[in-house]
Amino acid sequence: MALFCLTSPGGAPGVTTTAVGLSLTWPGRVLLAECDPAGRRVLSGFMTDRLTQPPGPGLLGLAMALQSDPKAAAALDDYTLPLTESGQARLLYGIHDPRHARQLAPAWQSLVKAFLTGDGDVIADLGRIGSAETPVSVLEAADVVLMMLRPTLGQVDAARPRLDVLRNVVGSNARIGLCLLDDGSYSAAEVGRVLDVPVFAELPHSPADARVLSDGAPPRLTFKSSLLMRGLDGLGRRMRQAADEVADQVEGSRSGLAASRSAP
Ligand SMILES: Nc1ncnc2c1ncn2[C@@H]1O[C@H](COP(=O)(O)OP(=O)(O)OP(=O)(O)O)[C@@H](O)[C@H]1O
Ligand SMILES: [Mg+2]
Repeated sequence: MALFCLTSPGGAPGVTTTAVGLSLTWPGRVLLAECDPAGRRVLSGFMTDRLTQPPGPGLLGLAMALQSDPKAAAALDDYTLPLTESGQARLLYGIHDPRHARQLAPAWQSLVKAFLTGDGDVIADLGRIGSAETPVSVLEAADVVLMMLRPTLGQVDAARPRLDVLRNVVGSNARIGLCLLDDGSYSAAEVGRVLDVPVFAELPHSPADARVLSDGAPPRLTFKSSLLMRGLDGLGRRMRQAADEVADQVEGSRSGLAASRSAP
């Protein structure tokens, strides 16, 4: 299992929409953890009219439970909701009131440990990064960090210092990639070159299909086979591939270390 963090330089380029879409198309069990300190969005978005049970305690409830009992991590599923009928994708909804971000600050480390006790991958929506409330512990544990942005001068300019910080925060083996929303003035190749980060995918600008994921709008008949959903499927496969590369690299350095220890 691997931890995937989704971030942006601000400007709402579609992090939460993409995180929901990835979870729906993910090839295996996945937990979508809403870790954006600015507040939750999925209960009042994609889950509108889809909630079949009370939403339960969510991220803040889990953080409070972990404070008094670290073993609460074993009951992670009690804090999550099925995002799909099969339950293969689950949601840990985030805080409602951004003032609660301060309460979460000391809990991030144990929250990350709890996320990693599950048997599937974790997609963490961190939202805009760069504020004092950005959950750095989650980034430190990430295998793959995806920054979403529109290919505009403003977004590229805002992304640059944040990527510098990211490179210093994430582990040496973790992979950083970009996901571009196809409605800006620059090509993916230009943005990748300027920011010196690989572009994992370009998603189409598809407002009607995006609203299904961001606002719970009724899907059109073509939704599942839409360009957006196919783009998300490709992005998910690229992210999984990056996580496999990280795992291989970790395994490689472990066996190299073992070999050097046992050498005479
Ligand atoms: N691929 C897309 N095509 C068209 N519109 C999109 C796409 N992805 C997202 N959107 C739209 O952009 C808006 C913002 O999306 P979203 O809330 O996911 O952004 P965000 O980056 O999570 O923002 P915030 O930082 O405020 O959390 C929504 O109205 C959503 O429908
Ligand atoms: Mg968001």
